Amino acid sequence: MNIGFIGVGAIAEALVHGLATLPDSPHRLILSPRNPARASHLSACYAEVHTASSNQAVVEQSDWVFITVKPDITADVLAGLPFRPEQLIINCVSTCTCADIRQLIGHNMQVFKAIPLPPVARHQGPLAYTPAHPLLQALFSQLGNAVAVADEAQLQAIATITAQISSLYGLFDCARQWLQQQGIAPQAASDYIKAMYLAQTRLAAEDGAPPFAGLMEEVSTPGGLNEQVLRQLTAVRWFDAYASSCDAVLARLRQQAD
Ligand SMILES: NC(=O)c1ccc[n+]([C@@H]2O[C@H](COP(=O)([O-])OP(=O)(O)OC[C@H]3O[C@@H](n4cnc5c(N)ncnc54)[C@H](OP(=O)(O)O)[C@@H]3O)[C@@H](O)[C@H]2O)c1
Repeated sequence: MNIGFIGVGAIAEALVHGLATLPDSPHRLILSPRNPARASHLSACYAEVHTASSNQAVVEQSDWVFITVKPDITADVLAGLPFRPEQLIINCVSTCTCADIRQLIGHNMQVFKAIPLPPVARHQGPLAYTPAHPLLQALFSQLGNAVAVADEAQLQAIATITAQISSLYGLFDCARQWLQQQGIAPQAASDYIKAMYLAQTRLAAEDGAPPFAGLMEEVSTPGGLNEQVLRQLTAVRWFDAYASSCDAVLARLRQQAD
């Protein structure tokens, strides 16, 4: 299958690495010619990657097309491109809805919206999209944990949670600084934090693991240290602050999509 990319930036690069390193990758990957340095690096890495002469050539040669340009130029980039109704279009532009894209390329087009994240390069992490489609599900399941949601409103909620990633690293860094203040060497401190969160996340991801609330209960021995921290953070409304940051991000995403 020929898979095209309009826009060869950070997220297209991650998708290309992921697709080109699938076992016996059956795909020919066709890149738009902007960002020649990145495109030629990818072509040099993988025999199945080719750079087209224009965005038009990408669309003409592809069965599926990923739209991976920035929101502000999407309308200009897509105007007049020769899309065909049998193609699948995967819109990765954060603030463009599928309706926006159809308005630009034709109302009879099959447009999907997806949120690929950089770890797709290593076939890891979630890959949420909508609406469900068996062929996309099959491909995305090879790139990570494919999650089909009912509609774009649900996808906005998923996007809201991805906006918490830098705060997660912020939490790790807070723990690192605190350990260093106790005299632990920086490397040992960060190694410990990474190993602890990785192991706990793996436990939570095991088949048959209790739901998150069950895991919380399991580790919160009454009167114990974990329970003390949980009680203290709940009392200062730490979880409420998290939820209200989600509300604010979701409101912003909805406003941008209007
Ligand atoms: N990065 C992420 O983690 C992520 C995750 C999910 C969704 N997204 C979405 O994916 C889209 C791309 O994000 P990104 O981070 O990959 O951005 P990026 O690194 O800035 O890449 C955008 C690419 O579009 C190229 N471009 C500009 N004008 C073009 C044109 N006329 N025709 C074809 N290509 C053109 C740019 O080329 P030049 O370098 O030559 O200007 C650049 O390489 C955004 O809409 C973003 O919302 C990103």
